[in-house]
Formats: sequence, C-alpha cells, structure tokens
Amino acid sequence: MKVLITGAAGLVGSHLSRRLAREHEVLALKHGALDITDRTAVQRCMGDFRPEIIFNCAVLQVDESEQDPAKAQAVNVDGPRLLADAASAIDAEIAHFSTQYAFEGEPIGRAPYTVEDEPRPVNVYGRTKVAGEDAVREACARSYIIRTSWVFGSGKASFLCNAHNDLRAGKKVRAIDDIWSSTTYVEDLIDRVQLSVAKGRYGTYHVVNAGVCSYYEFALEAGRLLGLERAEIDALIEITHERDMKRVAARPRYTPLHCTLSEQLGFAPMRDWRDVLAAYVKAGLE
Ligand SMILES: NC(=O)c1ccc[n+]([C@@H]2O[C@H](COP(=O)([O-])OP(=O)(O)OC[C@H]3O[C@@H](n4cnc5c(N)ncnc54)[C@H](OP(=O)(O)O)[C@@H]3O)[C@@H](O)[C@H]2O)c1
Repeated sequence: MKVLITGAAGLVGSHLSRRLAREHEVLALKHGALDITDRTAVQRCMGDFRPEIIFNCAVLQVDESEQDPAKAQAVNVDGPRLLADAASAIDAEIAHFSTQYAFEGEPIGRAPYTVEDEPRPVNVYGRTKVAGEDAVREACARSYIIRTSWVFGSGKASFLCNAHNDLRAGKKVRAIDDIWSSTTYVEDLIDRVQLSVAKGRYGTYHVVNAGVCSYYEFALEAGRLLGLERAEIDALIEITHERDMKRVAARPRYTPLHCTLSEQLGFAPMRDWRDVLAAYVKAGLE
C-alpha cells in the first residue's frame, strides 16, 4: 500500500513509520516537511503521492493547547479535517489518532470508557481532539478513529518512556499517585491498528493495554521489574499529586478505556500493562 504518515517525528509517528516501511511504500512527513494546517501543501502532497491510506499522528499537546487554543483548533481540528477531505477526494482511507482525554474521568473507580460513553473533555486539548474526531468522521466515510492513552516506547522524553531508565540509573523519579489511566506500549498500539486496518472496519477504536494504573504504580512496577529492593524503590520514587504539579491544563483523573469494537471483531484482548512493561524494561536491559 501507499501510506502517508503525518507528524512522523513524534512518538507514535516515528514508530509507525519504521514499522510500516517494512511492508509498504511509506511517505513519512515530519512537521517541517508537511504542516497539516497548510491547505495548499496538504493538497499538493496528496495529489503528488496519492496515498491509499493516511495516518495522522500530528498533534498539539495538552499544555500547549491550553496556552494557545487557536493553534489547538488549527492542529487538532482544522488540519485533520483538511487531511480527511483530501483523503475523501482521492478515495483514500484515513486513520486518525485521538485520546482518552475525550472523557471527564469521574468518578474514580468507574468502569472503563467505551465508545458508547459521551465525550466530556475537561481541557482545550480534549475538546479540540473530540472536535477533530468529528471533523474526520464527517469529511471521510472511510475513517478509523483510534483513541489511545498514555503511550510509551523508546525515543521520547516522557515519564512513562523513561521511568525505568531513571530508576536503573539511580535517579530520583517524581510520580503522580492520584490520576489513573490505561497505558499503551507503542508497538502494541501499532499491531492493533494494523489489524483493524486490515479488517477494513471503519469506526472508533479504543486501543490500550489491559488494566489501569497511576504514574506511581507504573514506576513502582518498573522498579520491581528491575529487581530493585522495595526500600531502594521507595527512596528513588518521590510521590507527588496532580494538584502539586501546577500544570497549565487540568487532567481528567480516571480514564481507563475499553474497546467494544475490537471485541465485536473477535480480536484477542490486548496484553496486560504489567506484562508489557516487563517486556519494555527487559528490552532496555539487552
Ligand atoms: N503519547 C500519548 O501518551 C498519547 C496519548 C493519547 C493519545 N495520543 C494521540 O496519539 C497521537 C500521536 O501523539 P504522540 O504522542 O506521538 O505526539 P508527539 O510525540 O507530541 O508528536 C506529535 C508530532 O506532531 C507534530 N506536529 C505538531 N503540529 C503539527 C502540524 N501543524 N503539522 C504537522 N505536524 C505537526 C509535532 O512536531 P513538532 O514537535 O515539530 O511541532 C510532533 O512531531 C496524537 O493524536 C495524540 O493525541 C497520544
């Protein structure tokens, strides 16, 4: 297949580009090569390359969206609409990534969110991501909306990506213990997305590893998997609370996801987050 990937330097975009290039003709465009908010550039690129499917991995992140709502609207809503329009015009498919931040995250301990649950975002990022989903669905009937959550894998400077490396190096880690979500290993995300696209069943997917944890529980498990003593782990992990982080954007507190569409399609359950973290930590030790 001819595959166009936008936002190709990001966590999801970079891993997806590497993986799909093994089997497909991939044009992986970083932000500098294609700004998805530039209508002329999008149309030129689609006309020249004529992809059969577009994977849109471009996004304006959570705090940046809160700081600049107009830019969030452009990158998270208008850009995806341009891509979906352009896909529709050449009868291509589009797979657009979205987020658990579609949901409000209350009450703590509630059942995992399914596609039946009404989105009720609590910040600009969430609101624009939900609007971006709608824009893609409206513009292109051949669309996959892939909501995922707390993605980790190699190559990004984030808590989830690096907690195990920091603990192994004896560095202190600050871990929030009062927000919880599903976590997602980027390679498992890509496996499931490939499966969904191969099935050709358009719709909204929730693609996450099984189970739910806080950042603190994630770090604790990483320490345990590294073989550290509990006392060592406790000395390295500094527990903190969401309110003490003084972040620009509010975060929903409890947003595990569950995928009813994957169940209907007979896909196997995704691996448990602890098993996945074990594999990730082990890969880092090799
Ligand atoms: N990572 C997670 O934990 C997570 C969780 C839930 C959902 N998701 C979803 O997964 C998708 C990918 O996220 P990610 O974690 O891979 O994000 P990321 O690492 O922040 O990468 C996003 C990429 O988009 C690029 N970008 C920003 N504005 C652009 C524009 N106007 N045109 C083209 N590219 C642009 C960025 O380039 P610059 O940096 O150069 O601007 C960056 O390389 C997003 O839809 C996100 O909502 C991710």
